[in-house]
Amino acid sequence: MTADVTKGAAWAKLAALYDAFTPDLRGWFAADSDRADRFTRTAGDLHVDLSKNFLTDEVLDALVALADEVGLAERREAMFRGDHINVTEDRAVLHTALRRPRGDSLVVDGTDVVADVHEVLDQMYAFADKVRSGAWVGVTGKRIETVVNIGIGGSDLGPVMVYEALIPYKQPGLRCRFISNIDPTDVYEKTVDLDPETTLFIVASKTFTTLETITNAKMARWWLLDALKKAGAIDGSDAAQADAIAKHFVAVSTALDKVADFGIDPANAFGFWDWVGGRYSVDSAVGTAVCVAIGPENFADFLAGFHTIDRHFAETPWAQNVPALMGLLNVWYTNFFGAESHAVLPYAQYLHRFAAYLQQLTMESNGKGVKADGTPVTTGTGEIFWGEPGTNGQHAFYQLIHQGTKLIPADFIAVANPARPIKEGGQDVHELFLANFLAQTKALAFGKTAEEVRAEGVPEALVTAKVFSGNRPTTSIMAPSLTPSVVGQLIALYEHITFTQGVVWGIDSFDQWGVELGKVLAKQITPAIAGDAAALEAQDASTKALIEYYRAQRTV
Ligand code: F6P
Repeated sequence: MTADVTKGAAWAKLAALYDAFTPDLRGWFAADSDRADRFTRTAGDLHVDLSKNFLTDEVLDALVALADEVGLAERREAMFRGDHINVTEDRAVLHTALRRPRGDSLVVDGTDVVADVHEVLDQMYAFADKVRSGAWVGVTGKRIETVVNIGIGGSDLGPVMVYEALIPYKQPGLRCRFISNIDPTDVYEKTVDLDPETTLFIVASKTFTTLETITNAKMARWWLLDALKKAGAIDGSDAAQADAIAKHFVAVSTALDKVADFGIDPANAFGFWDWVGGRYSVDSAVGTAVCVAIGPENFADFLAGFHTIDRHFAETPWAQNVPALMGLLNVWYTNFFGAESHAVLPYAQYLHRFAAYLQQLTMESNGKGVKADGTPVTTGTGEIFWGEPGTNGQHAFYQLIHQGTKLIPADFIAVANPARPIKEGGQDVHELFLANFLAQTKALAFGKTAEEVRAEGVPEALVTAKVFSGNRPTTSIMAPSLTPSVVGQLIALYEHITFTQGVVWGIDSFDQWGVELGKVLAKQITPAIAGDAAALEAQDASTKALIEYYRAQRTV
């Protein structure tokens, strides 16, 4: 049985600190002119200010002691080394090998995985160059203008988030779209205005069995062939259709045999390995759409960014180690202050899908009720991650963060250099944006007292409504610019934060059994919806009634 973290000395120390703890960000800053400096850390290009957290020297020491007590260093080394730390699936967890530089070597289970990684990268880079240069043409000889990635979960959220984040690096004349939902309106809307002659589909699925992805890929295949036939671009012969599929479909998967069964030429398939978790895979061939859009050189920078943070996480003492500290602070908030959720608020519009991406990374990883050895957890686990880009969030849900009854630690992310510097009437608009980033973290930390409100002449009856308690913890993450490398660094930062929390909680952060039951039930329910009386009878009363409602209402 895994040792119970709550029985250790470090946990007891944190509990004692919590019992005597009164957050006082105003007082702490007033008493210590060095506080901002003392609690600011650097990881690669990331400048991370932790000073507006519930952090004191004593808390920092206790969190570092907790890292030592749970053996975070040993677990980290086991991961980097390729031990089978995903115990319930008996797999190594080697996303860090995906970004190791060419020439490095890591032999796991008898294979040099870094050499394998670079072999696939070379294949991806050659493919991306062909599409970008126009050497890869569709069935009628036209160059590709739209790359459509079909995938879901990790085979979608990473690629779409990174593509959106790096739009300024995209080759003009090329664009990507992403189909994920099995709702047929998704495939319809994403293809309805496309020219099949200039469209290339990438079917991305680690297992190549995921119902949503395979169904969407089949619909896309039908759409392509039908549209090409209607345009007179191909005839209906098997050979013509096979040729069209070969020129308009490529795949990314660990199951290359299933790719061939689908009709995609294995020569146009990019592999990866079972030691890459879906939510940790955007830096594998799953990132092929991104690689085509931004080009191999930028993709290599993206990978180098991950590697920078991997090195930082692997080599930096805990007290300076940004992912470890952020993960440990999340434990502090979750397990001692009872925080249930965590906001991620990028002041960078290009990061508008970052929170959605992090939801899978963090919640599929750490939303577990049993430890790696199958025994029940003894702590709360997995925070609920959510967020929207600032300033949109300010005009929506920040009210609750500022004045609500829940403690919501928040990460604010901003860059110094906008990708599109624009002035309006002499005002640098990025500076207006940044002023909001700084104002929000300041308001959350320091609030506004009743005396300050009264001093503004506010009528007494309104004073309490206008008071801001402050003491709402935030971390400010800044970088020079949103480059491919910085996007890689941000992802790796959160991967290692997630890892740190999983180690403290003693869980397997790399399996996802919680998604399985619904998949099985959907298969059983499908015939009932279609009218199979026996399958309908087998349902519970609520499900049965809902199906009956559906069948009575469906008219199209
Ligand atoms: O159902 C959850 C999940 O297994 C995720 O972990 C994964 O990212 C997603 O489905 C897609 O899986 P695949 O890449 O095998 O299609």
